[in-house]
Amino acid sequence: MRVYLDNAATTPLDKEVLETMLPFMTEFYGNPSSIHTHGREVRSAIEKSRKTIAQLLNTSPAEIVFTSGGTEADNTAIRCSIEALGIKHAISSPIEHHAVLHTLESLHKAGRIQLHMVEVDKKGYINLNHLEELLKQYPKSLVSLMHANNEIGNVTDIQLAGELCRQHGAIFHSDTVQTMGHFRHDLQKLPVDFIVGAAHKFHGPKGVGFLYINAQNRIQPFIHGGSQERNMRGGTENVYGIIGLAKALEIAYRDMDEHQQHIQRLKSRMIAKLQTEIEGIAFNGDPIQSDKSLYTVLNVSLPIAEVGEMLLFNLDINKISASGGSACTSGSEIGSHVLRSIHANPERASVRFSFSKFNTEQEIDFAVQTLAEMYKKEKVA
Ligand SMILES: Cc1ncc(COP(=O)(O)O)c(C=O)c1O
Repeated sequence: MRVYLDNAATTPLDKEVLETMLPFMTEFYGNPSSIHTHGREVRSAIEKSRKTIAQLLNTSPAEIVFTSGGTEADNTAIRCSIEALGIKHAISSPIEHHAVLHTLESLHKAGRIQLHMVEVDKKGYINLNHLEELLKQYPKSLVSLMHANNEIGNVTDIQLAGELCRQHGAIFHSDTVQTMGHFRHDLQKLPVDFIVGAAHKFHGPKGVGFLYINAQNRIQPFIHGGSQERNMRGGTENVYGIIGLAKALEIAYRDMDEHQQHIQRLKSRMIAKLQTEIEGIAFNGDPIQSDKSLYTVLNVSLPIAEVGEMLLFNLDINKISASGGSACTSGSEIGSHVLRSIHANPERASVRFSFSKFNTEQEIDFAVQTLAEMYKKEKVA
């Protein structure tokens, strides 16, 4: 048995999704920009996919732009809103994904914006009172706060964050890569300007995603070229990717309650078993608060000083694929910026297990058993 517990990195493609994509790799090969029948049938499939996504998110198809994934969608939202809306200040958090952090840092280095960071506490929660203080000081900023953190799973109340942004005339971008397809986003109710999705995080294909752009915001493209995506992204569309993305999101919404319950059960089982099997086990983030913790992610902190990579390597040898990082020393580029930001103990090894609908209780038990044996050996050594 080989166990895949790295679903926050990427998920396996759903067979039902593959079936939907296949005809667009063979039979329907026209360029969607061509005006002949071959082109038009593909164009119509793309527009149908856009409509499906818009309906699931309760918004208009004109507000959905297909991209090459989460990173491009985040870059587009951040760079193009700062550029087009003349934004001078950005507010973000130190636990954002590098797709957001490195984009903001490069704009800061280039002198385009001043960057302000919202405080994060030891449990990984973003301090929304501090956000409000920053917004009072720097209204009309661009605020970029992720919905759920990919390493420790903390969920931020983006409804509240968005309302604060609206009150202060700020533009709100939320990196929803880890919650898209796992939570229901209702864009009639959610006060956001930009959210994003990446198909490979919810059993769709890699290399495709989308950006939601609230119609109030007029921005210019990130990738210039042809008039594809209503002039918002040049380049021939990733047709089968887009078809797969829409199908994957449709399945995710269709089966969401059932899968959420299943995955939450697996996570709770792993927490309980680890607590019995490994003395001194702890968790990064706040996984016990199930309503504030992403149900697909569990970040385990082990009372051993083994270097993060060695632990992952040993897990791999024992047939478990997981990922993670360590807090390492501050200022170092190695290790996890998220764990450092929450002041995780660098003397402890951390490993992130992340689950999907395809995981089973047996796999969880196998992983716990393996980790417990590794821990016992380390203690004796
Ligand atoms: C929170 C978050 N944002 C952005 C990304 C980047 O998405 P992609 O790999 O589709 O570019 C990821 C992927 O790991 C992520 O977890």
